[in-house]
Order: sequence, then structure tokens, then C-alpha cells
Amino acid sequence: MRVAIAVVLALAALIGAADGAELTTTVAGRVDRHTTESLLAHPAATTINVPSDVSYKRAMSYRAVPVSALLGGVPREDAVRFVAADGFAASIPASMLMAATEDAPRAYLAIEPANAPWPPLKAGAKETAGPFYLVWLRTDRGRVSPEQWPYQIARIEDVAPVAVRFPGLIPAAAVPPNDPIRHGFAVFSTSCLPCHSLNLQGDARVGPDLNVPFSPTEYMREDSLRLLVRNPQGPASSYDPAEPGFMKRVHRGGSFLCTDQYCSRYMVGARDKGEPSTSTNHLGFRCVSQPSRRTK
Ligand code: HEC
Repeated sequence: MRVAIAVVLALAALIGAADGAELTTTVAGRVDRHTTESLLAHPAATTINVPSDVSYKRAMSYRAVPVSALLGGVPREDAVRFVAADGFAASIPASMLMAATEDAPRAYLAIEPANAPWPPLKAGAKETAGPFYLVWLRTDRGRVSPEQWPYQIARIEDVAPVAVRFPGLIPAAAVPPNDPIRHGFAVFSTSCLPCHSLNLQGDARVGPDLNVPFSPTEYMREDSLRLLVRNPQGPASSYDPAEPGFMKRVHRGGSFLCTDQYCSRYMVGARDKGEPSTSTNHLGFRCVSQPSRRTK
């Protein structure tokens, strides 16, 4: 009987362990493997209240561990890369993450308990911000951009700063310190690099490269480009005023329909509109055969 109970308990423990998630941190060459359970049991774990959570857009409460307690020994001049399951990769300065004084925002790793999942990020969807999510307190004491709240984190690792790893990204040495180009690069590093590469340099592959094969500044009007960057989701309604009966979606270019005569809408970098069921949809797989075989 005792053996049977022990087996049941061991099985329950196994099932319990399978529910939790794993997180690897690599700091100064030291690799630590954490689990949901080990992080919830961390001596520095605490309950925090986030008044306006960037991803949930409301007040949230979490069990969380201060990031400074997890990344001890990280060189202050390094960056820390948070890699999410979908390829999002935000590199955040270590000095900002390790700041523990009252006058600076404070970073916490929120942990989603396996038996009490957080709400979904979008109504009707299943995915939450868990299993691990970087959240900030005291955000009134310094600038933390929305891209510095990575969620669904799978790995955390210290890396050299962006300028050292991707020299092809940084402005030329001759650009003066207060030049708008330098300001633009700072904004790009924080707000765009977590999803886009530029000249194929950068960690993330969520969005397309912003200069290869073309720069969007070459094929988009400036006013449209501004609209797109501010609101990538586009208009609230997908009904095209020119064809009000059809709900349309964005088509990316790169079409099998391409010919020299009408190529511009179909080049790889192009964006266009279309009904999802249209046969001029450029995505997916098509069956093709060689013309010589068609007649057989
Ligand atoms: C959370 C991820 C994410 C962030 C952050 C992000 N983007 Fe994007 N971006 C995307 C995705 C995904 C697409 C592709 C959307 C599509 O094709 O419909 C895209 C598309 C674009 C495009 C169109 C490119 C093309 O070839 O069609 C431009 C331009 C762009 N983003 C600029 C920016 C800029 C500038 C920033 C920073 C201010 C930025 N993005 C931040 C995910 C992101």
C-alpha cells in the first residue's frame, strides 16, 4: 500500500513539474536553470502591484523576483537580452536592470504560477504574458519604453552592447554627439530592434529587415510610413471604401504573379490590400507543373 501511495505521489510530482516552465539565465558565463517552482520559492520573491501594466493595460498584481537578485555579477556596461518564444529579443542595458535605488525604475521578473494562470493578453486568445514577464515599478522615475516589457520570456543572457555586437548598425564616427541621427539610433535600438534587423544586423526576426532588400523609405510615402509605424494594425475596419462589400487584409509582396510589366505591387517589400480568399493571395504553397507535362 505504502509503495502504491509513493508511486502516486511521485507521479503527481512529475505531473506538477511538467506544468511549470523553465527559464535559463546566462550571466558572466554562468548558466542557471530555473523553473516556475524554483523562482516562486526564491528568497527574494515578493508580491508586487503594477499600477499600469504595459501589456495588460490595467493594474496587475504578480509574484515576482527583483531582476537584480537573478543577474548578480552581470557587468554594468553589458546589455541583457530577453528572448521570447516568438523571436522577440530586447536588449536592455544592464545598468538599468540592476538599478536598485529609489530614484530609478526597478525591474522585476514576474512569474506565472502553473496553477493560477494570468489572463490572456487578447480577449478570446489563450496566450498570457507568462510564463515569465519583465515588469517595472517606479516608472515615473525614468524612461522605460513599452518594448522594455518583454513577455513570454524563454531565455535571459548577458551580451555586449548593441554597438559592439552590431557595428554595422551604429551611426558613423563623424556624426556629432547631438545630431538627430544619434537620437534616432537610440530610439531605434530601444523601440524597433527588439523586432526588426537593419542591414541584416540585430537579434530579432519578428518583423522584416528595414533595409534589405529595400528600405521602406524608398517605396513608401513618408506620411504613410509614419502612420504604419505609429499604428501597424492599420484602420479599425478592414472594409475598403472602394469595394465596401469585401473585408480586406494586408498582402505582403513576393508574388508568383510577378512579371516585368506589373511588378511594383508584387515586389518582396511591397504591401497591398486584398481579400483573404482571393486567388491573387501571395502566400502559401501552389502546385506547379512544367508546361511540357501539362498536356499529358
Ligand atoms: C513588437 C514587434 C515590432 C516592433 C517593436 C516594431 N515593429 Fe515594425 N513591424 C513588425 C512586424 C511584425 C511587421 C510586419 C507587418 C506586416 O508585414 O504586416 C513590421 C513592419 C514594419 C514596417 C514595414 C516594412 C515593410 O517592408 O513592409 C516598417 C517600416 C516598420 N515595421 C518600422 C518599424 C519601426 C521604425 C519601429 C520602431 C519605432 C518598429 N517597426 C517597431 C513588428 C514590430
